[in-house]
Amino acid sequence: GMRLRGLPMDGEGVKAGLVSSYRKQYGGQLLYTIPSFHNPTGKVMSEQRRKEIISLSKKEQLPIIEDDAYGDLWFEKKPPQPLKAMDHEGNILYLGTFSKTVSPGLRIGWLAGPEPVIERLADIKMQTDYGSSGLSQWAAAEWLSQGYYEEHLTWVRRKLKERRDAAVHFLERYAGDIATWRIPAGGFYIWVTFHKNLPVSRFFYGLLKRQVLVNPGCIYDGEDRNSIRLSYSYASLGDLETGIKAAAETARRLMM
Ligand SMILES: Cc1ncc(COP(=O)(O)O)c(C=O)c1O
Repeated sequence: GMRLRGLPMDGEGVKAGLVSSYRKQYGGQLLYTIPSFHNPTGKVMSEQRRKEIISLSKKEQLPIIEDDAYGDLWFEKKPPQPLKAMDHEGNILYLGTFSKTVSPGLRIGWLAGPEPVIERLADIKMQTDYGSSGLSQWAAAEWLSQGYYEEHLTWVRRKLKERRDAAVHFLERYAGDIATWRIPAGGFYIWVTFHKNLPVSRFFYGLLKRQVLVNPGCIYDGEDRNSIRLSYSYASLGDLETGIKAAAETARRLMM
């Protein structure tokens, strides 16, 4: 029953200055945000913006859900501390998951928040799915306590960075003259914006015929007609090249 409303972002993340007016206009009850390696744009919220969001949440008594699914997946430098680390009011529910770093099939995530809220959510979870698998939780606890997680992260970061570099290289080669993008400093995604709008449906199905599945920008922002979210996390380097080449060729043809 949630009614979601997107908030505009700039290079530093969600525009904090617009939160109050959006809240009034749409009756907003809660701010959901992905400060580090945002899905789908790959952006990282700056430290200054994090401070602004925290003080806003304090001033306005605005609860925040901070989704930190990608925060551990940085390449050269850690993102700024989570919002939750600066929360002295208990306004923030902080979420993490093993889905992006270890295995989505484990279905293990965690949250940090005020105890009464956790108790309530745990109860709802119990009523919804009887709780997560004990076996998965046991494996996850072992993984964390034996130091495998940190070791594994070092490997994942290295591998992901290789893929990011390859994806950027193929983008430059095949789409350098028809699109722009920011090079992500971590996470899974590159948000690619073509210079002109695309007929989204023809673009999507044209690529599907070539066995390339893209996430058009309109999935994330209903008005968007010229962006795609590119994930470099899973495909082999060969498939990344095939996919990016096909997307660029199709976009080039349709933009004419
Ligand atoms: C920002 C964000 N949060 C959470 C998830 C999903 O996590 P989980 O598999 O733990 O439900 C995703 C996966 O796409 C994601 O992008």
